[in-house]
Amino acid sequence: MTFLTVQTAPIEGQKPGTSGLRKKTQIFREPGYLENFVQSIFDATGGAASRTYVLGGDGRFFNSEAIGVIIRMAAANGAARLIVGQNGILSTPAASNLIRKHGTDGGIILSASHNPGGEAGDFGVKFNAANGGPAPEKITDAIHARTLAITTYRIAEDAAPGIGETGRFTIGDMQIDVVDPVADYETLMRELFDFDAIANLFAGGFRICFDAMHAVTGPYATRILESTLGAAEGSVINAVPSPDFGGGHPDPNPVWARELVAIMNGSDAPDFGAASDGDGDRNMIMGKGAFVSPSDSLALLTAYANLAPAYCGRLAGVARSMPTSRAVDLVAERLGIPCYETPTGWKFFGNLMDAGKVTLCGEESAGTGSSHIREKDGLWAVLLWLNILARDGRDVVQLRADHWRSFGRNYYSRHDYEEIPVDAADALMTALRGRLANLPGSKAAGMEVSTADDFAYRDPIDQSLTGAQGVRIAFTDGSRLVVRLSGTGTQGATLRVYLERYVGRGGDHEQDVQAALAPVIAAAEALTEITKHTGRSSADVIT
Ligand code: G1P
Ligand code: ZN
Repeated sequence: MTFLTVQTAPIEGQKPGTSGLRKKTQIFREPGYLENFVQSIFDATGGAASRTYVLGGDGRFFNSEAIGVIIRMAAANGAARLIVGQNGILSTPAASNLIRKHGTDGGIILSASHNPGGEAGDFGVKFNAANGGPAPEKITDAIHARTLAITTYRIAEDAAPGIGETGRFTIGDMQIDVVDPVADYETLMRELFDFDAIANLFAGGFRICFDAMHAVTGPYATRILESTLGAAEGSVINAVPSPDFGGGHPDPNPVWARELVAIMNGSDAPDFGAASDGDGDRNMIMGKGAFVSPSDSLALLTAYANLAPAYCGRLAGVARSMPTSRAVDLVAERLGIPCYETPTGWKFFGNLMDAGKVTLCGEESAGTGSSHIREKDGLWAVLLWLNILARDGRDVVQLRADHWRSFGRNYYSRHDYEEIPVDAADALMTALRGRLANLPGSKAAGMEVSTADDFAYRDPIDQSLTGAQGVRIAFTDGSRLVVRLSGTGTQGATLRVYLERYVGRGGDHEQDVQAALAPVIAAAEALTEITKHTGRSSADVIT
């Protein structure tokens, strides 16, 4: 076994964003690009010598090649052991589970999540820490700093062993355990939920459509929902992962999961619809003819979590990202548990969960999860919903209507403006930030501003401060507007405008969402001058 030390030079732009380093696949395929970043992960975390890591990805184009490179680099850097998903496949939640279950020193997950894949699509690399969660900013900052100083990387000259079969292999002194990607994850789900109740539900004729969007959740959903729980064969659609996700955009929202939406809005709609994203950590929930917004889903799951064995009487607290609607806050208040507001990105939930302060958490971007792992978890959310429906007896639409009647409804939508020039996006944010101090008390399109600030977060556990996390503007009628730039895009800038309006108990809870939000949308344009800055008169994606 020959290990090579290869001379290299720093590459600009290897700064991890909201969730790892994401770039166009062709950039990741440039000589040394992946190698520099992986070596920087090892270097910035104390070296790989004698360490154990989990390794896997969502199967997108370049996954296999990248896995081979990382295996050879881990061996050359002296790692003791890798736990690798068969064929290099692991969903993000399954990887998080393996890190925790085997007490590894961390893991490397290859994914650009919901971004399109393929040769012309996106690729990504994320480092997760020993708690199973995305590395916190102090680690990602150190990795980035290392990418700017790197001079060499280490790699085995020999090819990596095949990982098409499960079993134990070695490369040099390093052991490689190739594992079934689904098995341990399924075991964990069995521990959390009432599988008997869910199986009875299906046995009674309950129908589900789960859209795996040609992505990594296909094998997980097929095995757990169909084989184990007895959902009808064919309940999981687009179940075979493909390197370019069937040419689609594996983002589970009503815009990209059109096939599921059509089925759920059809005349013979199943009782329950769901979809997951490229790497299996996001979820979208639908009832017959009804889309459940992720913010509402988090609120409902919190309200009824006691119907699942793992959560009954065990909710320590909840957390949501700042732009997520405040529907869950109302539930937490009634349950008498704390509700934390964190910046966008799952890495901010980790400390709260490690400290036992939070059991459930979620984001408006279709991410929901719990302290069972340290990532959001798409199939987990689906199983919790099924557990609740099986034990409660009402259907999705009724449950949600009753929830709104009891708590009021937080009308909510996100408007995305994609691939706008970075300069224009920066100018818009700078102008908006410059006006914040003068906004309280002023009116925008007839709406009176009560408070306005740029969200900064002091982590309650390690006291670290994260600033400039998005502008939030509250209005006197309880509505809210949040404006921030995406940290996961790979081209230009994406402006995200989050809109929320609360209609209390006894109000009209069945309005069209965009119509209900019209006053906030008008205020958003008046305050941010999107059209003036970007030339755009409408959003590219409305969810
Ligand atoms: C987006 C979502 C965010 C999520 C992240 C990773 O980040 O908005 O909630 O945690 O993807 O899935 P953004 O592009 O907004 O920075
Ligand atoms: Zn994802």
